[in-house]
Amino acid sequence: MNPVTKTIVLLPGDGIGPEVIRTAVRLLEDCAAEFGHRFELVEFPIGGAAIEMCGSPLPPETLVACRAADAILLGATGGPRWDSLPLGQRPESGLLALRKELELYVNLRPIHLREPLRGISPLKSARTRKIDLEIVRELAGGIYFGAHRLERENGAERALDIETYSTGEIERVARFAFARAESRSQRLTSVDKANVLASSALWRKTVASLAAGYPGVAVEHMYVDNAAMQLVLAPEQFDVILTSNLFGDILSDGAAGLVGSIGLVPSMSCGLGPPLFEPIHGSAPLLAGKDRACPIGAVLCASLMLRETFGLATEAEWIEASLDRVLGSGYRTADIAEPGSTVVGCSDLTEMIRAEMRASLEQIERYGWGV
Ligand code: IPM
Ligand code: MN
Repeated sequence: MNPVTKTIVLLPGDGIGPEVIRTAVRLLEDCAAEFGHRFELVEFPIGGAAIEMCGSPLPPETLVACRAADAILLGATGGPRWDSLPLGQRPESGLLALRKELELYVNLRPIHLREPLRGISPLKSARTRKIDLEIVRELAGGIYFGAHRLERENGAERALDIETYSTGEIERVARFAFARAESRSQRLTSVDKANVLASSALWRKTVASLAAGYPGVAVEHMYVDNAAMQLVLAPEQFDVILTSNLFGDILSDGAAGLVGSIGLVPSMSCGLGPPLFEPIHGSAPLLAGKDRACPIGAVLCASLMLRETFGLATEAEWIEASLDRVLGSGYRTADIAEPGSTVVGCSDLTEMIRAEMRASLEQIERYGWGV
């Protein structure tokens, strides 16, 4: 095992962001201590916290630090306190600017029904035999980054948002999704609205012509409305889903519901700059500061970072297996509780995962990491 040295920029942000990032940090520190890695963790403000501290949701120092990082870990942005600010000045625009500045055009969202959580899916059990898919969402283009305008004419208001995609923007994210499908079960579903939108027609044409370069991958094209329904009716049919920025945002919240809670889903954004890891949940202002947040999205961000970016699969597995054992013993945060569960807070769940990691070391020392 080769120890690594990495700089990780922490962007806790708003609401429950700082609480869940604290959990992820503890686990990263445990991995560093156990395996001899050196993780330099440096914290910077983003979102509403940055507006309060520096007057901007993405201060220049934060961006400079992110550009120099090996990886970035973000909590959440936004909150009622800033809801009256105009678009473009809100906390969320700090996150959007960061994605754009670093040209992070891929957002990977693994949707996995974990074995101990089988019972919390809202689907009947026959439909949840296997939910293990990945949504590859385009992240640096589309309607999120087109013009947003409010116009006034004769006292009436009219708003417009423009969606654009170029062939190059579609190709680069599609290549990532094809490669991902190649490494999994060779199935790719490209989701669009090509029966109505010009940007989607180009999307479909571009994905279809790239498919020739991946002869092993079976490609299916699906309209987004149908995809939303198919995800609920038969999620097992999906392996890798490739879609645009807006459709990916919407479908991934729906898919997170299938595996029990939006609090459980991590994400990895990558492209030209350093990769950014963030749970897909929001800042949950009603839970903030009460030690009631579910840290599992952030925990899985830590393991995703270790596995995908640092190539540390053993460490990732150590975290995930320990998490599953804690969940299997019935300890849950409130959002994923079942009858009979023991509901615990964010910090207790964190300590239970850490205790399980320590306990499993003894076993590992005896039998090796393969168990
Ligand atoms: C997400 C969030 C963001 C998005 C918001 C906070 C701008 O919903 O990461 O899914 O829409 O991309
Ligand atoms: Mn979202």
